[in-house]
Amino acid sequence: MTDKIIEEFFNVYKKEPAFSVHVPGRVNLIGEHIDYNGFPVLPISIPHSITVAGSPRDDRTIHIRNCDPRFPAASFEMSDSIPHSRHGHWVNYVKAAAQSLSSILTFPGNGADLLVEGSIPNSAGLSSSSALVIASALSILAAGKHSMDPIELAELMAKGEHYVGTQGGGMDQAICLLGKENYAVKIDFFPLRQQYVSFPKEYSMVVAHSLIRAAKTENALVHYNRRPAECRLAAAIINAVLKPEKPITRLGDLRKTDGWDAKMENPDDFVDSIFTRESYTMGDVAGLTGETADQITHKYLLMRDGTPMPVPREGFLIRQRALHVFTEANRVHKSCIALQDNDTGTFGSLMNASHESCDNNYGLSTPELNKLVSIMRSHGAAGARLTGAGFGGCAVALVKDSDIRAIMQGVKDRYYNDYIRNEHPEIDETGSTDDVLFAVKPSAGATVRYF
Ligand code: GLA
Repeated sequence: MTDKIIEEFFNVYKKEPAFSVHVPGRVNLIGEHIDYNGFPVLPISIPHSITVAGSPRDDRTIHIRNCDPRFPAASFEMSDSIPHSRHGHWVNYVKAAAQSLSSILTFPGNGADLLVEGSIPNSAGLSSSSALVIASALSILAAGKHSMDPIELAELMAKGEHYVGTQGGGMDQAICLLGKENYAVKIDFFPLRQQYVSFPKEYSMVVAHSLIRAAKTENALVHYNRRPAECRLAAAIINAVLKPEKPITRLGDLRKTDGWDAKMENPDDFVDSIFTRESYTMGDVAGLTGETADQITHKYLLMRDGTPMPVPREGFLIRQRALHVFTEANRVHKSCIALQDNDTGTFGSLMNASHESCDNNYGLSTPELNKLVSIMRSHGAAGARLTGAGFGGCAVALVKDSDIRAIMQGVKDRYYNDYIRNEHPEIDETGSTDDVLFAVKPSAGATVRYF
């Protein structure tokens, strides 16, 4: 914990902190938007992190402040039904953790005074939001001198984070808790489990922010939630067409069906055999599943607040979404083998292919991310792709340690000093690039300290 946060905690609360928690952000190496489909992903945790200093209270009030004045102080009562703050307010992530813990913590009290300090750029695809959820949960637990199995906590918080309205999967909460120095973590879901895969020695991930903010609870919310919804529709169509013995609820359930591995030797053929349209109207889906438009809306297309998701103007791109999910799952599988063999060339190509699929099939990329990725590749990265939810945020590249400087210089010259200035003169990029362009290696997962 830094001196600054201890000093600041004392200034604000007039007492010493009793504990601190430290939670890392993450870079997803590969496996994008497939966690909620029940396929494994391969992230690393990174040194950029959130620290919370805290001390328990006798009541059920959570007071929370942030060292960064852009995030206003807030307080609320622990309960299993906590009213939301305004849309996009940072405290909703704290409330998400508090509400899901309230439903399982039975001891009295549970209140806490908390102060947050963070170095994970937000709305950047580096999981600052889930790090805050996990940091809040660990703080509330620490205030009650309580602990919880990390797997159980990660699963609870993955569901709990739906409080903010994004229908995310469980990757981010899990990697915050399960990250390990020098290792990538293959994380599988339903049930949550992990396997450590060594990260190549003498390599790092160079992270470059596109400077386009992708706030998952603001501008990117509808774009994000549309993807899990289209995947639910894909699963419904598969049930209607293949009539599996046990209907699937998510695409990853197909892994348990006969002949799946053989089908995945050629995922394009499998996808083409089921999804014959480039885009689907509500009527197309209804015609296949035998459900009414109303039933489809209620089963697959509701937002957290119960309102229906808007039907996209170009229709549901179900075939493309399924193609991405199955091919990306294959790439994760091959990436784990490549990393185990220290085959950075193959892994880099898989990263490149992942980016292309995220862009073409899943619509996650932007011109800025494509530009960054191409600059990184042309300056010698083994592979480069967007990371995280997409729609902005960061691109990442696998880079030999000896090439880091050259690649970072290339990105500075061609992206920050050229492309962004010309294409987005409204973005002020006069400051240092240290916060938006850096190299990381896999770091440890979350820790809790008592004083
Ligand atoms: C966000 C979500 C994750 C995952 C990624 C995309 O970070 O929180 O669950 O779906 O997007 O891979």
